Amino acid sequence: NPQSPINTLAISALSPEIVTIKTIEDLQKLNLITNSEYYVLGEGSNVLFTEPKTPKILRPLIKGIEIEEAENCFLLNVGAGENWHELVKFTIERDMPGLENLALIPGSVGAAPVQNIGAYGVEFSDFCCSVNWYNFGKKKIETFNKHACLYGYRNSVFKGNLKGKGIIVSVKIVIPKKWTAKLNYAGLNTLHKNVTPSEVMAKVIEIRESKLPNPNELANAGSFFKNPVVAHEQFTQLIAKFPNIPNYPQANETVKLAAGWLIEQAGFKGFKIGDAGVHKDQALVLVNYGSASGRDMIKLAKLIIEKITEKFGINLEPEVRLVDQSGECTIEELIE
Ligand code: EPU
Repeated sequence: NPQSPINTLAISALSPEIVTIKTIEDLQKLNLITNSEYYVLGEGSNVLFTEPKTPKILRPLIKGIEIEEAENCFLLNVGAGENWHELVKFTIERDMPGLENLALIPGSVGAAPVQNIGAYGVEFSDFCCSVNWYNFGKKKIETFNKHACLYGYRNSVFKGNLKGKGIIVSVKIVIPKKWTAKLNYAGLNTLHKNVTPSEVMAKVIEIRESKLPNPNELANAGSFFKNPVVAHEQFTQLIAKFPNIPNYPQANETVKLAAGWLIEQAGFKGFKIGDAGVHKDQALVLVNYGSASGRDMIKLAKLIIEKITEKFGINLEPEVRLVDQSGECTIEELIE
C-alpha cells in the first residue's frame, strides 16, 4: 500500500514503498534492480515532494553513539538515524563541547554531511572526521575521510557525484578537547567572554526560535534557497545600487549575499499563493499553511526566482532538495 513519507513541509504525496533500514544487513538484503531506484530520506526536513507521487524511499534508522577518547579529542561514531539536535545536547551534557552553534537544526545525523549543515558561523565539516557510506552498486561500505567528502557551502560529494548511488550509514565526528566559544555571528557577539557551552547553546536556540518557524507549528523546511555567492565585480555594481545590501566577503574574492534580504526587498515577505507562502518574518523560509501541493510551492518558488533575477540580476537556487516521482530533480526541469 502506498504510504506518505514524512516531510516537514507537510506535502501530501504517496510513495510506492518505504523501506526502513536498521542494520547493515537490512541494506545487504535489499533487492536492488538499479543503483538509484530509492530516494534516501532522513527526517524529511530538507525536501520538497513536487508531485503527488514520490519514488521508493529508504529511511536509515541506524542508531547508536560510540565514544572514543584520544589525547586531544573525542571521536564519536554516530548512527545515521540518530537525531542531530539530540546529539548536540548529548555532547554538551557530557562535557564534549563544540557542536553548540549547530543546536536545533532539524534532521538526522546521516543528513548532516549531505548538505553540510551550518549555522551561526559553524559547519558540520568543521567536525567531520569521516563518513561511512554504503555503495548500492558494490554492496559494501566505503569510508570517506573529510577531504574526500568535498565539502562546500551546503554541498558535498554525497549530493554531487554520489547522488542516489548509496546511503550514509554512520558518521565519525571529531571534537577537540580544547574549546573556544565561536561568537562571531550577529546575535552571539553580545555574549560575555567567559560564556559556557550550554549558554552558547541556549542563545542559539533562542535566536533560532525567534527567527525560524517551528515546523511542528507551521510547515516549512528551513531556508528554501541558498544564499547566492557572486563575483566581486557584480557585487560592486550591486552595492552602488543597493547601499544597504548585507554582504559577507568570502576567501576567493567572491561575496555571499543574504537571499532573505533580496526576497524581502522584492516585496515577498508574507506573500501567499493559496496555502503556499513566504514567511512573514524570515523571507528565506517558504511555508505551507495547510494544503499546499508540491506544485503550489514550486509555483511560488519560480515566481520568487523570476523577480529576483529581474530586480538584482541574481539567480537563486533552491537549498531544499526537490524530488519528483522518479527521484531528485532541478527546479529548471519542473514545469509549472
Ligand atoms: N534578512 C532580511 N530579511 C529576511 C531574512 C533575512 O533582511 O526576511 C537579512 C538579515 O537581517 C541578515 C541577513 O539577511 O542581515 C542574514 O539573515 P540570517 O542571519 O537570519 O541568516 P540567513 O542567511 O537567512 C543562514 C542559513 C540558515 C542558518 C542562518 C544562521 C542558508 C541558506 N541559511 O540563513 O540555515 O540557520 O544563516 O547561520 O545558508 C537552513 O539552511 O535551512 C538554515 C536555516
